Amino acid sequence: MFQPDLLRGKRILVTGGGTGLGRAISHRFAELGASLVLCGRRGEVLESTAAAIAGETGVPVETAVCDVRSGEAVDAMVERLWATAPIDILINNAAGNFLARTHLLSHRAVDAVLNTVLHGTAYCTIACGKRWIEGGRPGTVLSVLTLSALQGAPFTVPSAMAKAGVLAMTKSLAVEWGRHGIRLVAVAPGPFPTPGAWQQLMPEDRQTAPLARSIPLGRYGEHAELANLCTFLVSDQAGYITGEAVVIDGGKRHLGGAGPSDLLEWTDEQWGKLRS
Ligand code: HXC
Repeated sequence: MFQPDLLRGKRILVTGGGTGLGRAISHRFAELGASLVLCGRRGEVLESTAAAIAGETGVPVETAVCDVRSGEAVDAMVERLWATAPIDILINNAAGNFLARTHLLSHRAVDAVLNTVLHGTAYCTIACGKRWIEGGRPGTVLSVLTLSALQGAPFTVPSAMAKAGVLAMTKSLAVEWGRHGIRLVAVAPGPFPTPGAWQQLMPEDRQTAPLARSIPLGRYGEHAELANLCTFLVSDQAGYITGEAVVIDGGKRHLGGAGPSDLLEWTDEQWGKLRS
């Protein structure tokens, strides 16, 4: 689908790059020649992912242990990385989320999600953006949202609020930083199973509903599909796209809005009866 060297010469920082979707996206970037820095909280997880990706693709993969909830830690990490070579592309992927009834959340529970998703994303974006602007370099920021940024999401309200904030950041900075050659884009995935997200969001009781009722294409997304979309959006081939969030959800967003989905379950007999 892509030129094999599409991302050669690009140095890409991926937050939350050690596991889940961040790992899948990183792997695809490496296959296309990018040099990577994987950032996360747990050194051993990062090292193991970096070794696997480097072994499979032959490109250099660095790691940076950093909790993005700390603005000081983020700035120190980015300063250290820049001392070797500037970052060209930032992927804001680190997230935290859990299912809960909102009226029972403590303020610490709200902060646990907002600090990572909203504040961490702002810290990383500003740390890279100021260095791009001061150095007169172009740059690209891709943020991983979820459908909830566009539509809201009951029972994961802090996450929906935080991702909506990241969407607002994407649109705002696309305008403010456009003249510096900095693009900001986002992806808004529907359900893409990962151990982390499923542990937090899909307890067994939720796994019984038929997929066809909640996703028009009748299946979950595959990691490679999301990784390919991210690859296109950060590549120079997408150089005129900025301030945009691309939904990748198997049509989930349009369920409900497009009409009553109970009709999807109707049998031929029911349709025949209606027609007659
Ligand atoms: C209610 C909870 C809770 C839960 C934590 N808290 N989990 N409250 N239900 N399931 C509360 C705690 O009681 C505590 O409040 C406060 O939150 C902080 O808890 P800690 O465990 O100390 O927080 P922390 O170590 O920061 O970890 C919280 C976390 C963690 C950030 C959410 O689970 C984490 O690190 N997750 C990363 C992995 C992850 O979440 N992956 C899924 C991402 S999926 P009190 O008041 O008791 O002190 C995703 C896709 C979005 O983002 C899709 C949207 C539809």
